[in-house]
Amino acid sequence: MAKKAKAKAAKTKQPAKRRAATAKSRAAVSAPKVAAGELVTLLDFVRYAVSRFAEAGVVFAHGTTDPIAEAVFLVGEALHLHPDQFEMFATARVTVREATAILGLIERRVATRLPAAYLVNKIYMRGVQFYVDERVIVPRSYIGELLESHFDGGATSLIGDPEAVERVLDLCTGSGCLAILAARNFPHAEIDAVDLSKDALAVAAKNVADHGVGERLTLHHGNLFAPLGEARYDLIITNPPYVDAEGMASLPAECRAEPAMAFDGGDDGLDIIRRILDEAKDHLTPDGGLLCEVGRGRALIEEEFSNLPLLWLDTEESNGEVFWIAASDL
Ligand SMILES: C[S@@+](CC[C@H](N)C(=O)[O-])C[C@H]1O[C@@H](n2cnc3c(N)ncnc32)[C@H](O)[C@@H]1O
Repeated sequence: MAKKAKAKAAKTKQPAKRRAATAKSRAAVSAPKVAAGELVTLLDFVRYAVSRFAEAGVVFAHGTTDPIAEAVFLVGEALHLHPDQFEMFATARVTVREATAILGLIERRVATRLPAAYLVNKIYMRGVQFYVDERVIVPRSYIGELLESHFDGGATSLIGDPEAVERVLDLCTGSGCLAILAARNFPHAEIDAVDLSKDALAVAAKNVADHGVGERLTLHHGNLFAPLGEARYDLIITNPPYVDAEGMASLPAECRAEPAMAFDGGDDGLDIIRRILDEAKDHLTPDGGLLCEVGRGRALIEEEFSNLPLLWLDTEESNGEVFWIAASDL
């Protein structure tokens, strides 16, 4: 491999097979089906993107859950606009150069079926920006919202004063997004974050550095609780792999571009969740608790762990996909 290409490959650290597949799919991107000047404003490009996405049957499951939000995200990114700024410029005209950049992104999204976040190496979660690439699953956990809605120290809060939280563990941290949101939410807490994937931890390390939380947030490589010794936490948050074998076999193309180990929860999806439920008590302080996302596993979990008083939490876009349990109930 030429020196320059080698350096680039080392920097991106993607497996050779995936790099080849990505390069191949990028090569297949066709020229946009729009003549110069046909589309004028940001809204025109959003409307066009929505219709291209519908024609191509792309799937939205990565931070945005509908074609309009995805189109707004991509158009905004091409123009270096934060999603919150879109409305202000929605009817503004774009330059020819900007139009080329926007159309290029739309066509890459359709042709490669890569999640939009991989195309721009960026995702917003609760308004906070994170770096992502194909070494890590695109952040979209419901726990981000729950940290704001259920851990604020108010009347319905699941813990006391967030300022008094001393130690938080994020198991299966991926990009580090939840650990970083936890560091913001619990301003005096020391955060530990664990992942089995060294690739994911490399992305998490970049995010930790970008957010300047390295003094309070430590990344650990290992299998669930294994690298933590006998440490105990006031709060454990986790969005583990929980897709069952049937779900793994039918993942859409966008999700197949993400690391399989971020999804694979074994035959019934509960392999990792069982281990977390078995071991969490040994790593919680007496007043602590576990917040765990489980996808569609609720019925199975309730059947198998009928002795546990799990509290199921809803978010704007989910019903009963995350449970809370206090350490004293485990
Ligand atoms: C669903 S992803 C969640 C990532 C991140 N917390 C988020 O919400 O975006 C699950 C993560 O668990 C990691 N993982 C899988 N098996 C693991 C294990 N046995 N121990 C630790 N991490 C594991 C994967 O590498 C992946 O990053």
